[in-house]
Amino acid sequence: MNMGNMAKITLKTLQKKAENEIKNSKNLKDLDSVYKKYLDKQGELSQILRSLNKMPKTKRIKLGKEANELKQVLKENIEQKTKKLKEKTFKQAYEKEWIDVTMPGKKPVLGHLHPLTQVKREVERIFQLMGFSIIEGPEIETAWYNFDVLNIPKDHPARDLWDTFYLKNGMLLRTHTSPVQVRYMEKNNPPLRIIVPGRIFRHEATDANHEFNFYHVEGLMIDRNISAANFRAVLQEFYREFFKKPVKIRMRPSYFPFVVPGFEVDMSCTVCLGKGCATCGRTGWQEMMGAGMVHPSVLKNAGFNPKNWQGFAFGMGLERLAMMKYRINDIRLFYKGDLRFLKQF
Ligand code: DAH
Repeated sequence: MNMGNMAKITLKTLQKKAENEIKNSKNLKDLDSVYKKYLDKQGELSQILRSLNKMPKTKRIKLGKEANELKQVLKENIEQKTKKLKEKTFKQAYEKEWIDVTMPGKKPVLGHLHPLTQVKREVERIFQLMGFSIIEGPEIETAWYNFDVLNIPKDHPARDLWDTFYLKNGMLLRTHTSPVQVRYMEKNNPPLRIIVPGRIFRHEATDANHEFNFYHVEGLMIDRNISAANFRAVLQEFYREFFKKPVKIRMRPSYFPFVVPGFEVDMSCTVCLGKGCATCGRTGWQEMMGAGMVHPSVLKNAGFNPKNWQGFAFGMGLERLAMMKYRINDIRLFYKGDLRFLKQF
């Protein structure tokens, strides 16, 4: 057999081999190795083409043509196979990875602030609109600030108005946020306007209206000519904004050692709208807070001259406000952590 025939046979076997390998390629990587094996510069077909140099011209032309044609055929085969393989991968991915965009999504379950926190923030927002600053004080307090500076001397029966948790170290759990009045006045000059929201403690049996731990908001406004009328106006505005409707209030004379005169403030019951119901004891009114004109002794204790400065103070329970706003009839619900209750806010 001469060289020409040999090359011819080689071309044929090569074609068969290559076509077979292309057919059996399972992925693009296989196909790429087939390409390299036969068609690259060092590939088998290129080597055959190079070997043609040594042949007589006529044969060389004929075989060269055939080899080039084969090259073309193989290239086309590879291209087609590439296309097929790509389609296959796409189809597989499409079947495996599709998502149903019409399916309803999964809503993440979000928590929210405790109703008391919400109410506290709302109270803060409204008083800030009226120029009051938010001030805080310590929950563990001295008897001095909790009582003495507020005109409640040791051994005076007025101390019994507050059922107090005394600590072994001589301190106590504050029974109101009123001590922050004096703490603040000691460090700041009038005129001043503050509210003091915070947690307080009472040594009390719990029932629908009592907890041993609850929240107070204390208020204090001091200037040269502040009167009880100013207090009433501020309060009326606060309730209107808080309850989003006009609310009737009334002030009754009352006794607190740190104010004179002192009063208690009632508002028309939101449950029965003043008609009288079980919540308000059939009176149509709800007790909301204690208040009064700051006692001259308290001003003196804070270092202010009562001849130059005067003002009002008040203290209200945050829970009572929330109960009136949302018509809740048991204070203990706020502290039970019962989600059926909490989720309603
Ligand atoms: N601290 C009082 C209490 O514990 C509430 C209170 C009454 C605060 C009269 C005041 C006030 O500022 O003037 O019940």
